[in-house]
Amino acid sequence: MTITHKPLGPLPSRRLGGLDVSALGFGAMVLSPGVYGEIDDARAERALLAAVDAGATLVDTSDGYGADGHNERLIGRTLRNRRDEVVIATKFGFRLPEGVEPHPFPVGYAFGELAVNADPKHVRGYAEASLRELGTDRIDLYYPHFPDPQVPLEDTVGAVAGLIEAGLVRHLGLSNVTAAQLRAAHAVHPVSAVQTEWSMWRPADGELLAAARELGVGIVAWSPLGAGFLTGTVGEVGEGDFRQHMPRFDAANHRANSDRFAPVRGIAAELGITPAQLALAWLLDQDPHVVPIPGSRTPAHIEENLAAAHIRISASVRDRIADVLAGTDVAGGTLL
Ligand SMILES: NC(=O)c1ccc[n+]([C@@H]2O[C@H](COP(=O)([O-])OP(=O)(O)OC[C@H]3O[C@@H](n4cnc5c(N)ncnc54)[C@H](OP(=O)(O)O)[C@@H]3O)[C@@H](O)[C@H]2O)c1
Repeated sequence: MTITHKPLGPLPSRRLGGLDVSALGFGAMVLSPGVYGEIDDARAERALLAAVDAGATLVDTSDGYGADGHNERLIGRTLRNRRDEVVIATKFGFRLPEGVEPHPFPVGYAFGELAVNADPKHVRGYAEASLRELGTDRIDLYYPHFPDPQVPLEDTVGAVAGLIEAGLVRHLGLSNVTAAQLRAAHAVHPVSAVQTEWSMWRPADGELLAAARELGVGIVAWSPLGAGFLTGTVGEVGEGDFRQHMPRFDAANHRANSDRFAPVRGIAAELGITPAQLALAWLLDQDPHVVPIPGSRTPAHIEENLAAAHIRISASVRDRIADVLAGTDVAGGTLL
């Protein structure tokens, strides 16, 4: 097999609950400054258009990506004339207008705490703000970004169900939840997709996957390239790059992790594909209802990544990767 940087025809599609999307989506977080280093809007627009041109139909954003709605605004502006080609997924709870009380919760990286507010009384306001920024009349898939520790998730979900009833939102998603939370929310309103971190260096929560499969809920895998690590191209991470707060990217941990993943990169080389393509093809092979959402600012990377939707993993490659991962302790903590 030769390395492919151009998709080989239309992307296959997958089903997330009641939604059909391309088997690989596009994670737009990278398009706002201060996440993976610098980026200007012209580059961000080119990257987003490259993803849609190459067949990605699921675009993932959040009201919390970029300062003051930057990411949603960029998507709205760039896809103004292509709205019907994409499923827009966004999340709420991180962009708190003045007067909305921040509810803190701890995360496992150096800047310590994040704050959300997913009180049902604010949810319609969040959705109206996102609709304005996105320049659209409906959000296709709407997630509370994180469960709010001070608000029962069922109450938050009930507010989203009201937005679906009102026609502002088409489908309910959940992000960063447990299996028990998924079950409780699904009893209030059917959930189309659950978003969770899942990649070769971050095993998925088995109970969550089992619950999603049982309930017919699709799985959206975030950071499917291990925030870039699994591409084998990340060197030292510097200022303006949030990975400097992730222990897995400390110089010593990063070196150790690179050594540990060398056999995976070796398998990719043997197959004539890139490590990024193997990471994505491996995820697609794990479950017929998983849709990874890799992010990138670089059209060549985006085309390379989307081409992975056409790569089939053989049983022997699956087994060899499972053996490598079983013996691979990742150095450094995880975000959540
Ligand atoms: N629900 C949540 O809490 C949550 C949390 C985190 C992320 N997410 C979602 O998941 C999406 C993806 O996650 P992510 O952006 O954190 O991580 P990711 O997709 O695993 O990795 C992104 C990084 O990989 C690099 N990259 C991508 N393709 C590459 C290739 N073929 N070769 C070399 N480098 C490549 C990008 O750099 P270049 O720009 O240089 O290509 C970027 O630095 C986000 O955009 C967001 O939508 C959700």
